[in-house]
Amino acid sequence: MTNVVNVKNIEKIYGTKNEKKYKALSDINFEVDSGEFVGIMGASGSGKTTLLNILSTLDKPTSGEVLINNKDVTKLKGNQMADFRAEEIGFIFQDFNLLENLTAYENIALPLSLQGKNSDVINNSVGKIAKKLGLEDILDHYPTELSGGQKQRVASARALVHEPAILFGDEPTGALDSKSARALLETMSKINREDNTSILLVTHDPFSASYCNRILFIKDGQIGQELKRENSSRAEFYQEILDSLGTFAE
Ligand SMILES: Nc1ncnc2c1ncn2[C@@H]1O[C@H](COP(=O)(O)OP(=O)(O)OP(=O)(O)O)[C@@H](O)[C@H]1O
Ligand SMILES: [Mg+2]
Repeated sequence: MTNVVNVKNIEKIYGTKNEKKYKALSDINFEVDSGEFVGIMGASGSGKTTLLNILSTLDKPTSGEVLINNKDVTKLKGNQMADFRAEEIGFIFQDFNLLENLTAYENIALPLSLQGKNSDVINNSVGKIAKKLGLEDILDHYPTELSGGQKQRVASARALVHEPAILFGDEPTGALDSKSARALLETMSKINREDNTSILLVTHDPFSASYCNRILFIKDGQIGQELKRENSSRAEFYQEILDSLGTFAE
């Protein structure tokens, strides 16, 4: 099995010379295999977003390495980093981050437009992912004309249209009602199974985490425990997660 993500000894200290220093992450080591759906769980302030931002090249660690498809992303600079992000990474956020003055189609097409792809390629790729996510009928709508669930599906399509090496999500269901949240999780799960897309999902919600195959628990900036789904059903895994949270929080 090949690793799509390989994290080695990550440490993150916030605060420059004259400021008070705060160690947000230390001694973080883990791997994500190609095709895995991994969850990262932890309480508020435990370092989940800090970790995800480092993995997705939005921020740099104080020390350590992050390999994505065997490339150390902590060493990338400027345009190299922008190009790498545009080609290899998909990201969905809690608050969607859609551009309000672009239609759903234009939002989804954005990563390919930025890569300078021609309109036939863009049309074809947007059509394919829109079909998969059930967005064909709303492609000419603007974000203000969409429900929260639809916005997040458009954001997911934008994150997947360029077939990234890995999809990162930071609480992507956080702003959704429970029905839309469940639909999004079902879709992520389907994309993971059918297209073998690797996914790393940050959440503090046990229900969302129960869709993952493996969960890393982070506490005070360190990974303290790992839980594998093995042959459990989603409902059984949900219970195992609740049990783990009980013991891990003690
Ligand atoms: N830019 C920053 N400067 C200084 N400290 C920061 C900065 N960003 C985050 N922190 C601190 O690092 C710690 C981890 O924050 P982080 O945002 O990673 O937590 P989280 O697990 O994502 O929490 P939540 O579940 O609330 O989103 C917190 O104590 C936070 O206050
Ligand atoms: Mg966070």
